[in-house]
Amino acid sequence: MPDSSRDTAEGAGWGSAEPGAYRRLMPTEVQKISWLDPRMLWAARNGVLASWFGDPTGRTRSRWVAQRAAAGAPADKVIRRAEADRFSFLVIGDTGEGDEPQYAVVPGLLKAGRDTSFAVLASDVIYPVGSADDYDGKFFRPYRDYRAPIYAIPGNHDWYEDLGAFMRVFCGDAPPLPPEAKPRPLTRAWLRSLLWHRPRDGDGGRLAEARRLRSEPAQQAVQPGPYWAVDAGPVRIVAIDTGLLGTLDAEQGAWLREVSLDPRPKILITGSPLYVDGEYRPCAIEGGGTVDDLVRDPAHRYVAAIGGDIHNYQRYPVRVEGRTIQYVVCGGGGAFMHATHTIPRVDVADVTEDDFRCYPLRGDSLAFYSRLYGRRLRLRRFFTLTEDEATAVIAERLGIRPGRAPGATRITRRTRLVASLLGTGRRPGRKARFRLPVRKIYTQLFSPSSATYSPPFFKCFLRVDVSPEAVRLRCYAATGNRAQEVDPPVEDEVTIPLV
Ligand SMILES: [Fe+2]
Repeated sequence: MPDSSRDTAEGAGWGSAEPGAYRRLMPTEVQKISWLDPRMLWAARNGVLASWFGDPTGRTRSRWVAQRAAAGAPADKVIRRAEADRFSFLVIGDTGEGDEPQYAVVPGLLKAGRDTSFAVLASDVIYPVGSADDYDGKFFRPYRDYRAPIYAIPGNHDWYEDLGAFMRVFCGDAPPLPPEAKPRPLTRAWLRSLLWHRPRDGDGGRLAEARRLRSEPAQQAVQPGPYWAVDAGPVRIVAIDTGLLGTLDAEQGAWLREVSLDPRPKILITGSPLYVDGEYRPCAIEGGGTVDDLVRDPAHRYVAAIGGDIHNYQRYPVRVEGRTIQYVVCGGGGAFMHATHTIPRVDVADVTEDDFRCYPLRGDSLAFYSRLYGRRLRLRRFFTLTEDEATAVIAERLGIRPGRAPGATRITRRTRLVASLLGTGRRPGRKARFRLPVRKIYTQLFSPSSATYSPPFFKCFLRVDVSPEAVRLRCYAATGNRAQEVDPPVEDEVTIPLV
């Protein structure tokens, strides 16, 4: 078994490692996503408009679903696969930025996933706004050599152009929705429609050509809609679409209640994780109740709830009436990295630091961001923390056991100050002081520069092995280095008994 980040700093991708061969998979020209670019910010405005003027997602989704039903999609939206009792699948979250970190995941994924029956992309398939022409470099090309079907659920970014491209690619080439009647002037809906971002004319012209990259019969998949379930072997996998704002419309909520009644053990896949960053976010359903109410109901037999949206890995084993449900965040499949060192000491629903797992380790996350800030602010000597310094200061501030044994190092005032400025979590009860923006730093500040597009990337994906007796989850790392590319290390593993 290769070293993981829990074993050594080299296992995390630090040191003078040789980069992997993933660049060979990339197109010669990659347009970097830059959120400093006002055009980009303006294009991605629909989430803000939905929160100001009312969220039209539920209605649009319902129209898509009706269109699919009229085209012959199964009414219960269940895909029935002829899987054996034992099979495996992949879950990859928040993939579609189309640059180095996304492609760096691919070799390990092809290796660790070579015998899997299918893959599921868990939200944000295409950044920044889910355009059809972006599917070439951000979906078809990276996964061209994955020889099995890929299903997907949309994230907020896929909704920024009303899901049109997602529906074309994943739902049997669904044609555009017919235009709706114009809203009455001077209403909220009218204002919203005036400002609403829509796909550019001619978007999707390159789609037919891009599709050839994944044209083998074994790679084809057709979904009944943006939310769906798969019956495979002994389990049912239920995948929901939480739209622009991370909620469920009433119609989808009714469907979720219905498909949850099936007696098989279930795994939920969602674009809005239910436990994340040490907090509980049960995900409201329009008209009442939450997604987690349905997950916790013992009659529904959910054993795991896996969510994208946050670009790292986290696992919370939550005890619910004598059972344990594994709540997983799995959004580290390609896009920029969300920090883990800002997660405070975990104490939620009886899950403590002893049971909580994350990747990257908080120390590695802090060391990563210290380098990033040092480089961008041209204050390397001040900001840069070694992996050992970062690991040690995290353990001190959070009062937790270090993720891996730090080498001999002294925690200085500078180390503590940098940890504080970069938003390191605190023990419960202590207030954070001023901190630099860390959470969305790539998108908001540093994305345009290519210097951050070198390893270690701290990306990951999930392999799920199903048998009649158990479901095993394994989080594999992708650092971007050759050592981990050839032999991807397992950062976390848990087996859930089914009987
Ligand atoms: Fe995302």
